[in-house]
Amino acid sequence: MSPVILPCSLRDTVEKHNQAHLLKDWEQLNDASRTNLLQTLQQIDFPEVSRLIELACDQSQGDALDLADRISPLQRVVRLPESDADEKAWNQARQHGQEILDSGRVGAILVAGGQGSRLGFPHPKGMYPIGPVTDRTLFQIFFEQLLALSNRHNISIPYFIMTSDATHDETEQFLQEHSWFGYPPSDVYLFRQGKLPAVDARDGKILLSAPGEVAMSPDGHGGMLQAMKKAGLLEQMQGRGVEYLYYHQVDNPCASLCDASMLGFHVLQQAEMSTKVVSKRSADEKVGIVAQVDGMQQIIEYSNLDEKLAGQVDDQGRLDYWAGNIAVHIFNRSLLEKLTQADQKLPVHIARKKVEHINADGEQVSPDLPNAYKFEQFIFDAIPQAANPLVIEADRHAGFNPVKNATGEDSPETARAAMSLLAKKWLEEAGVKTHPEAIVEISPLVALEANDLQTLTLGVQQHEREVLIVPDDDSCE
Ligand code: UD1
Repeated sequence: MSPVILPCSLRDTVEKHNQAHLLKDWEQLNDASRTNLLQTLQQIDFPEVSRLIELACDQSQGDALDLADRISPLQRVVRLPESDADEKAWNQARQHGQEILDSGRVGAILVAGGQGSRLGFPHPKGMYPIGPVTDRTLFQIFFEQLLALSNRHNISIPYFIMTSDATHDETEQFLQEHSWFGYPPSDVYLFRQGKLPAVDARDGKILLSAPGEVAMSPDGHGGMLQAMKKAGLLEQMQGRGVEYLYYHQVDNPCASLCDASMLGFHVLQQAEMSTKVVSKRSADEKVGIVAQVDGMQQIIEYSNLDEKLAGQVDDQGRLDYWAGNIAVHIFNRSLLEKLTQADQKLPVHIARKKVEHINADGEQVSPDLPNAYKFEQFIFDAIPQAANPLVIEADRHAGFNPVKNATGEDSPETARAAMSLLAKKWLEEAGVKTHPEAIVEISPLVALEANDLQTLTLGVQQHEREVLIVPDDDSCE
């Protein structure tokens, strides 16, 4: 086998961008490590990384414009229905959304590249068992929802799942082992997001995690645009006649996929991108908010909204910035195509983080304080580039019960309790009484919403205080 050669042009680029230290171990590396390093260096867009480093340094000088002077409350929003006229508009939107689903022009995308470190679960978060009775995983809930919808509308719904290096192999193996939860494998597209290097905050040098190994990290969920383009998925969408992409993230078992009302409003109001929000439970809830910034609709992360703005109220004491982002969006395919053109990049967010690395003497360093810049793109930064961006409110008890922390708020315990409560409410509406302390779970294959229960003969498995509503032919009663 011929030795692995470092192309002169690549060496020149690396040196020109002040990163020659990345090559200092080249002579000592074996062929496998050289190949690895070569591939990584070829993936790095050095001019872009240099631009980001400069930006990071500027940002640390603290010259950002004051948000307080630029922000104002959200304008274009469909609130939950309060009057008969609202009910009528919601029903019309729902009807329209059902027709769009019938026409098979809808796909779904799940971003599942995050490592879920806050939850402390050592696997991809989608594998987390969350069903209050069955321990159904998050992945199973999403696949079953899409299966139920595609059966109901007699359509196929392509499901794009973005993973990262940290989650890809295990996710793929898990889904294969579970036969994609009955979903046609030809409708599932697993693809990996890109990576960006971590940079030493003192001198702008790209960090090495080991000799010849660059410290790379996922490029944020905004990386889905380039990753989809690279994997040819925009062409797949076009080929399959998919015009609308329904986006959700992995941590919310109550995200109601391809929700007809949202689809209907999105299309009727000619939005190129829509966002689902819930009313924040308190000023300090850790969710991004949707507002106007410099007159344009935008999402501001909770970490960027200071206490004073977060707590600002109107003359009736209601939060000005009430619209909590639950990370459910609809994108027109045309917007995704526009955003993957070279001159239409999303902004890059720069965060100071602790990154383990080797120093110039090759010694391993585990910093106690943030030592490096990491770069990420957020998909919601597409909003200001979308025509007629729309916001639609959802009932937070029904639509947002995320699994983020190991304990306390937004934990498996709170999500399970909320799922059970919702299931009991649906049963009650269908005239089925349950024990006040019963724990209930309804399979998405049986019902996607309360109305679905009205028309069904229910198969109910009841074990003391655990009630599981299953498809009728699975019933063991
Ligand atoms: C996110 C939103 C926040 C919103 C909240 C609702 C961001 C920056 N903030 O916060 O506005 O109110 O959800 O729950 O998104 N992911 C990738 N690749 C990455 C990074 C993340 O696929 O490189 C995925 C994760 O797997 C997850 C989702 O993106 O599905 C959100 O990531 P996370 O970092 O957990 O966001 P939050 O801080 O919870």
